[in-house]
Amino acid sequence: MDSLKLANFSMCSCLLFATLLASSVSFAAAEVHFHEFVIQARPVKRLCRTHSTITVNGQFPGPTLAVRDGDSLVITAINRARYNVTLHWHGVRQLRNPWADGPEYVTQCPIQPGGTYTYRFTIQGQEGTLWWHAHSKWLRATVYGALIIYPKWGSHYPFPMPKREFPVLLGEWFDRNPMDVLKQALFTGAAPNVSDAYTINGQPGDLYRCSSKGTAVFPVMPGETILLRIINAALNEELFFSVANHQMTVVGIDAAYTRPLATNVIVIGPGQTTNVLITANQAPGRYYMAARAYQTAQNAAFDNTTTTAILQYMSTSGTSGKGQSSSRPILPILPAYNDTATATAFTSSLRSPGKIHVPTQIDENLFFTVGLGLINCSNPNSPRCQGPNGTRFAASVNNVSFVFPTTNSLMQAYYQGVPGVFTTDFPPVPPIPFNYTGNVNRGLWQPVKATKLYKLKYGSRVQLVYQDTSIVTTEDHPMHLHGYSFAVIGAGFGNFDPINDPPKFNLIDPPVRNTIGSTPGGWVAIRFVADNPGIWLMHCHLDSHLVWGLAMSFLVENGVGELQSVIPPPPDLPRC
Ligand code: C2O
Repeated sequence: MDSLKLANFSMCSCLLFATLLASSVSFAAAEVHFHEFVIQARPVKRLCRTHSTITVNGQFPGPTLAVRDGDSLVITAINRARYNVTLHWHGVRQLRNPWADGPEYVTQCPIQPGGTYTYRFTIQGQEGTLWWHAHSKWLRATVYGALIIYPKWGSHYPFPMPKREFPVLLGEWFDRNPMDVLKQALFTGAAPNVSDAYTINGQPGDLYRCSSKGTAVFPVMPGETILLRIINAALNEELFFSVANHQMTVVGIDAAYTRPLATNVIVIGPGQTTNVLITANQAPGRYYMAARAYQTAQNAAFDNTTTTAILQYMSTSGTSGKGQSSSRPILPILPAYNDTATATAFTSSLRSPGKIHVPTQIDENLFFTVGLGLINCSNPNSPRCQGPNGTRFAASVNNVSFVFPTTNSLMQAYYQGVPGVFTTDFPPVPPIPFNYTGNVNRGLWQPVKATKLYKLKYGSRVQLVYQDTSIVTTEDHPMHLHGYSFAVIGAGFGNFDPINDPPKFNLIDPPVRNTIGSTPGGWVAIRFVADNPGIWLMHCHLDSHLVWGLAMSFLVENGVGELQSVIPPPPDLPRC
């Protein structure tokens, strides 16, 4: 009953909309949140220099959305920038509603300069922290914000209510127009320039030039417990995060609760979120929270700077304690940049709070290699071939380097039956098996460019093993699946062993997420039920890898009847 109404709402008929509003009053439950997101350039000054930065409503980071589970959002995106843009609600399941998902040329054509599009969607059965970001080229470098989902009225957190809470958005700042950084990299074929700073809530913090004034400060009263909603919105880097002298207790990831996990440091990949509780049980004062790179690629340049914000104890009168603001806060100890042992220990300790439903019978057994590649050039001296040894960088899944269409979106082509935009022959296993994490023959370094989708029957039970390769370099790839959450049932180093690894899978209380690192030089296994029809992008959330083709898409077919089928597209869906 409820879901039928929500589905109708997504069809965005004003009449049905009014019905929903009326019924939401009688249920005293779901609310509808209306927002206008104007995408526009605004001057933003960081690291001593002012840039014309693409923002939402002039804010950087963008506005925080706060809703309850069951609520609906109606967000009108108005593009006043000079770039095509789309918005993505990262982690929102968008049941039967790929039209609101946002990845450009996958579920929609971009909103052109001067254009608008209204995203209408409902949060169904999710609680915790998600976020939203642009899903067009590299615009998400500055176009992003938090999406907080509170429990329904009358329902509670599975932990004591924290006294305060703060979104902690970790970002990456370029002292150039990020779109130009991308443009240059796509021209030369070389790796893009690295960022100049990491940021916490848009601010680099005290350790960077011209940045002390804006440093983010999080006030806390002695003794109280607060909730930090940490989001990694950085473009290209996994991060370690720690708070000086304060232990954290992880209670949620990617809008799913976890068994409480005490830790001094977390690792968080782009796309992931981590909710932690912190108790102000130290001597009143000022303590840095800090984030810096967890870098797994070998011989690759990376931004090795450290961003900080301040956890500041307030006196009972509500002001900061005497003399405190002049004292230099203590820095937390962060792991070494390449500390895979610490990263793995953390990630593998995460659990769901109790037994969850994991499919045990598998209909689709998928094995996807993920990694980089190099495209050979006929003229290695060409200015367009400045990758290693006169090549161009690429990346692939099962040797297919994903090419985004340009004349239509996948979803629109599928829905309207337009041929020639994609094929559905994405390989379920690597076309040629090899020693994935060994010394790989150069003949296997060059992927094939194509727009291939993998078809899944509605309701099929899927196991997917991501296998990192050592082509160019092993690396931890944060793999994100749109339209789904999945159970992370196992991980390991080296090549996945289909005989000896599955018996070790955790099918009882694995963590549930929407983005998972591939394990550098290793593998990670996930399971989900394909119960959300539509075309769903799956990709590495390092944006440099995404533009190189580290992506594919699933085409989940409609099931039986309306409630198992994609809803009709909204009338204002942009055309290419
Ligand atoms: Cu955070 Cu394809 O998205």
